[in-house]
Amino acid sequence: MKTEQLIRTFVEYFEERGHRRITGSTLLPPPGDPILFITAGMHPLTEYLEGRPHPLGGRLVNVQRCLRTTDLEEVGDTTHLTVFEMLGTWSLGDYEGRASLDWGYGLLTEGLGIDPGLLHATVHGGDERTGPDTASQRLWQERGVPVELTGEDNWWSNGPVGPCGPDSEVFLWTGDTPPISTPTRDDRWVEVWNHVMMRHRRLPDGSLVPLPQRNIDTGLGVERLASLLQGGSSVFDCDVFDPWRRHVPSLWPLDEPSLRLVMDHLRSAVVVIGDGVRPAGTGRGYVLRRLLRRVLTVLWRDDPSRSLGDLPDEPVTHALDHFRQRRDTADVRRVLLEEEHRFGRLLRRGQQVLARPRFRGPLSDEDLHYLHDTHGLPRDLVLTILRRE
Ligand code: SER
Repeated sequence: MKTEQLIRTFVEYFEERGHRRITGSTLLPPPGDPILFITAGMHPLTEYLEGRPHPLGGRLVNVQRCLRTTDLEEVGDTTHLTVFEMLGTWSLGDYEGRASLDWGYGLLTEGLGIDPGLLHATVHGGDERTGPDTASQRLWQERGVPVELTGEDNWWSNGPVGPCGPDSEVFLWTGDTPPISTPTRDDRWVEVWNHVMMRHRRLPDGSLVPLPQRNIDTGLGVERLASLLQGGSSVFDCDVFDPWRRHVPSLWPLDEPSLRLVMDHLRSAVVVIGDGVRPAGTGRGYVLRRLLRRVLTVLWRDDPSRSLGDLPDEPVTHALDHFRQRRDTADVRRVLLEEEHRFGRLLRRGQQVLARPRFRGPLSDEDLHYLHDTHGLPRDLVLTILRRE
């Protein structure tokens, strides 16, 4: 099943169950919102989860692109991406968790053809904040899906304050033996869908108060499930990475973890640029800069003559088309190349400065401040150069 088909099947399934499709936003939050990027499908809906009536009613479905920098160090494993798409459903004070989980089970098994014997669920086992989520536990038991009870792992929030609640996660077995163990003990159980019973709001003092309505917020990582449905063993095996797989390994021979990092970060950078961000020293632009510098650091580690200018148009155009971005491929490539040149110049200057006798041996915090303030060499860059020497 192609990614586009997975998205269509998901959206239609929920439309048939009374959900209205809303347009996902770009990666950028609305003006005035302090976060840098949208990290979850629910983020643009926060005010409706907090009780404001949504113009399309209490049942919603969409696909939302998200960017998570919290997972940056995980990129290169089999399940994490920096920019990814999340399919989401919401009940804004309408139905309860039981209906959400039951539909989820129906879509995964009948709608997408997943063997029910390969599923495992987790639910919140209760703590000092709330009692155990017995309604979710019972639903899974009735469907014959094994359930594991956990604590923190089954509590979801989008930050230190705001809407939050216990969740129930659905895992798919990816091992090549029959399923064994449980999701917290064996990482061949891969999380595919999270259903959050969003009923609380956390206040700045850490206390919880009930939201004006009982909501459900679910999120399913598109590339992760698409890869599994396509028989792949990592998120990089799904069809959205085909154009990258076709070009990147022959252009730049890399070991698999480095190849994954390069594909993930470059594709993410293209989408971030497509949403109008430009490299900068702070904020969103700095996230973009970091992504590109990490790519270049990996590429230049083996061969300093490698250049983003050699990347063919196809993967760039494919990413822009997939995310329905209107930006010109040539514009995006120009931004990539300018940033490469800027980084190259900084690296050369940094190497000259660091070759001075004063910087032999370990650097103190004071040295790092001096290098930054006097020579414009950021700490990350200095550490990158030192690691290469
Ligand atoms: N907000 C939850 C998540 O991001 C469910 O959508 O996992």
